[in-house]
Amino acid sequence: MEKKFRKIGVLTSGGDAPGMNAAVRAVTRAALARGVEVMGIYGGYSGLINDKMIELKARSVSNIINRGGTFLYSDRCDEFKTEEGMQKAIETCKKHGIDGIVAIGGDGTFRGATDLSVRGIPTIGIPATIDNDITATENSIGFDTAMNTVLAACDRLRDTCESHARCNVVEVMGRGAGDIALNTAMALGAVAVVIPEVAFDEAACMEKIRRLRADGKRSFLVIVSEGVENFSEGLAKRIQAETGVETKYACLAHTVRGGDPTLSDRVFATKLGVAAVERLLAGESNLVLCQQKSEIVAVDIVYSQCLDRYYKGTLKDGMLEKFSDAEKAEMEKAIAEKKEEFRKYYRMINDIAQ
Ligand code: F6P
Repeated sequence: MEKKFRKIGVLTSGGDAPGMNAAVRAVTRAALARGVEVMGIYGGYSGLINDKMIELKARSVSNIINRGGTFLYSDRCDEFKTEEGMQKAIETCKKHGIDGIVAIGGDGTFRGATDLSVRGIPTIGIPATIDNDITATENSIGFDTAMNTVLAACDRLRDTCESHARCNVVEVMGRGAGDIALNTAMALGAVAVVIPEVAFDEAACMEKIRRLRADGKRSFLVIVSEGVENFSEGLAKRIQAETGVETKYACLAHTVRGGDPTLSDRVFATKLGVAAVERLLAGESNLVLCQQKSEIVAVDIVYSQCLDRYYKGTLKDGMLEKFSDAEKAEMEKAIAEKKEEFRKYYRMINDIAQ
């Protein structure tokens, strides 16, 4: 028996990601098609605390599927982490008759979603972060667009590097995750990639550039993830000093996070938005929607957060205790596979023997 939902709230929280608008559109249209009203909450959880929201109709979400950023705005809200902030948010939900929330964002967003769920507001998370750093899912909204943005910028840098026989070291976003750097380095045929997941062999990089230059190669791209902190600019100087190849440095910073979403992000966001509404209306809650082996599946939100912490080495005492041995083994397998994938492709890109 489906729970009778009258109204759902939708919010975007944390760093914005191209495709968030497409997800809000899908949530809105899927809910309206099922006779459920939708409230768009402004500025993430702070909108819930401060009662800043607007009723969304089909017309409110037209012409946004193609736009980057988030028209609901976003915020990283510290007040929501306090019991007082949480209570204010729950009061706002009661005041507006909001029966459930779709929370679109990254791991911080899901922590907030869990807090709402345990206090009686059913919540489903949709992964949206350019970093792709939610371990339970192979993909997150905005990741594909961000990678394509890096690709376009680096193709331009390559043109001018080739003309002037230069190297360019390019730092890309990703917080603590090397996903954007690794995948774009692969797609660009970069001479080297530097990611937080694997120790960088700088001597091998220098040797490779010297060897390729001696063989006549004019231009080089080196992609560095921002997760390897305070490294990229110095690396550019060392490459020039040690190989004799003139080397420039570029930090793409927030340009990686803006721009119109790609087809892949629009479609993915739309599918996740529809799935979130279907599951909420079927009475499900406290889940994060994930892509696993190309399928959209629902993962317990607490499991997803523990898996993340396990992977990142930030587990706190007792966090794993609630999980069965089989679940822990499953987490360890997923972590080992992810680490092995990073190691394998880091070595391939950097020409290091497997
Ligand atoms: O999480 C998305 C992200 O763009 C990271 O890649 C980056 O490290 C961070 O957010 C930047 O955050 P802010 O926009 O708050 O400076």
